[in-house]
Amino acid sequence: MIRVWRVAVFLAALAPLLWWSWHVAMAAAGPEPGRYLLLNLGQGGLILLLLTLSLTPLTRLTRWKGFSVIRRQLGLWTCSYGVLHLSCYLLFILGLDWSALGADLSRRPYIIVGALALIILITLAITSNRFAMKRLGRRWKSLHRFVYVALALVLLHFLWIVRADLTQWSGYALAGGALMLLRLPPAARALSRLGRRISTPRKGSGHLES
Ligand code: HEM
Repeated sequence: MIRVWRVAVFLAALAPLLWWSWHVAMAAAGPEPGRYLLLNLGQGGLILLLLTLSLTPLTRLTRWKGFSVIRRQLGLWTCSYGVLHLSCYLLFILGLDWSALGADLSRRPYIIVGALALIILITLAITSNRFAMKRLGRRWKSLHRFVYVALALVLLHFLWIVRADLTQWSGYALAGGALMLLRLPPAARALSRLGRRISTPRKGSGHLES
């Protein structure tokens, strides 16, 4: 079951990439296919980051192992979307013209914020294996708390871009804020208690009466 679930998650994360590529190939991605890919990959990366962060609260609530076994996979997908997003920027926006990079960074400082987030995501992806876990010991957990910094940076990156219309951004920010609140110890304890209550059948109720 867990194996099937893992494969299903893999295919679900891969599907948008195939869908957007298909749109580009069919000339159905609008007048700027490069920008179409860039924006979709950016939002896809943010959604994957939020999904990755929702796995721990979901595990606490449902006590289902399936949520925790896909954490690394979703984290790696988040990083991959981020790297592809950067590749689209370099290829389609900058046109691989490295001499224009400096001017573009001063014109669009939000790119530096996105780059900082991506550096964190890449660092977390590289250290997400058992070997790094063993090598880093207690420091591993502290390092991986930087995922919250990455989320805050991505939200800032996005906010800077969409300043004029915050409708979509507010939804992501609310989801991110809620996920961060659920990590606070009292909320985490309450979730675990609720999870235990849901999964333990109460005495004297339903079929236990027989
Ligand atoms: C070096 C790293 C990065 C660069 C160079 C970069 C660059 C860009 C650029 C040029 C845009 C389009 C702005 C516009 O003209 O409308 C953009 C949008 C965006 N980026 Fe990034 N970004 C980076 C990292 C990230 C990361 C790591 C994420 C998320 C995981 C992310 C999420 C987004 C989002 C959500 C948008 C807005 C998409 C939309 O308006 O629909 N970016 N980024």
